[in-house]
Amino acid sequence: MRTTPVLVTGGAGYIGSHTVRALHAAGRDVVVLDTLEHGDRAAVSDAELVVGDVADQALVTDLVRDHAITEVVHFAAYKSVPESMEQPGRYFDNNVGGSIALVSAARDAGVTSLVFSSSCSVVGNPPEVPVTEEAPLDPESVYAETKAMVERLLAWTGRTTDLQSVSLRYFNAAGAAMDGSIGEDWSSTTNLVPLVMRSVLTGSPPLQVFGTDYPTRDGTCIRDYIHVDDLARAHVAALDWLDEGGRTTVVNVGTGVGSTVREVIAAIADVAGRDVDYEEVGRRPGDPAATWAANDRARDLLGWEATMGLPEIVASAWSWFSRLAEESQP
Ligand code: WQD
Repeated sequence: MRTTPVLVTGGAGYIGSHTVRALHAAGRDVVVLDTLEHGDRAAVSDAELVVGDVADQALVTDLVRDHAITEVVHFAAYKSVPESMEQPGRYFDNNVGGSIALVSAARDAGVTSLVFSSSCSVVGNPPEVPVTEEAPLDPESVYAETKAMVERLLAWTGRTTDLQSVSLRYFNAAGAAMDGSIGEDWSSTTNLVPLVMRSVLTGSPPLQVFGTDYPTRDGTCIRDYIHVDDLARAHVAALDWLDEGGRTTVVNVGTGVGSTVREVIAAIADVAGRDVDYEEVGRRPGDPAATWAANDRARDLLGWEATMGLPEIVASAWSWFSRLAEESQP
């Protein structure tokens, strides 16, 4: 059992805070580094929180040396696809510049293992489904490009230095802690599950379904929705794998099962016990028709598998967002 803490950048964010819990559950100590620009201090629970930026190399060097840290899980990044197209410079600076600074400072200070928060969107419109890790990189947004660039940085770092890494390519993260304690922020989201929840629970904005003429079973897009706690456990498994001598690689993290937009809405209507109204509008530019994960590598390499599906995702999200809706009432 390792005794030195894991440094979790962006550990006050959505997936980061769930991963901090998963690390604690696995008996690991954690130090969180987060600017709190988007993160929530309360979500960090009892881990040590350092408020600061991954681009601050002096801070990273001190943190790593003071705590004798050898392992990092790196989430800290901006994550809005539309915003990345409007403010590309901000995304390249923060996501790529920040990662370059972090990786070099951490490596020089003695870090040997890193797990990176990547995205299935690095593949863009997948050439075939299920999507394997071998699919060529073809990002369709600045956000996805920043993730692809960091994957490549890490691939070269792994080939030329002692720092080995696993880039986890998340499919569509959703859901909340089963005990209702932590979950997703719905204030500025563009993702389906929180938007359906907000529309059902607050009435606004009205829900729109983007595209009903896709070549899929009901005409709407297919995605692989993965429960955030399953996703969180994949980070622990990736660190363990690196600890056992694993070398730099990328691994998909999905369930291997795709759901259509209409199926997600129907599952939410079930848990809400009411009809969900929506308007059918045109396709959203850049949306692939169907994508879901080939998850053999996650299983074979990391011994990781999803344990939950759409019912658990929508049930946990419903409890979490119902509470947010109650708290935001005047
Ligand atoms: C899912 C489906 C929409 C909103 C993006 C990023 C990806 C990842 C997760 C991380 C699509 C449809 C959505 C709405 C709708 N990243 N939809 N009405 O686009 O698969 O993935 O978020 O941080 O990198 O690309 O997720 O939740 O936006 O959309 O009909 O109001 O729901 O068209 O088919 P997406 P999403």
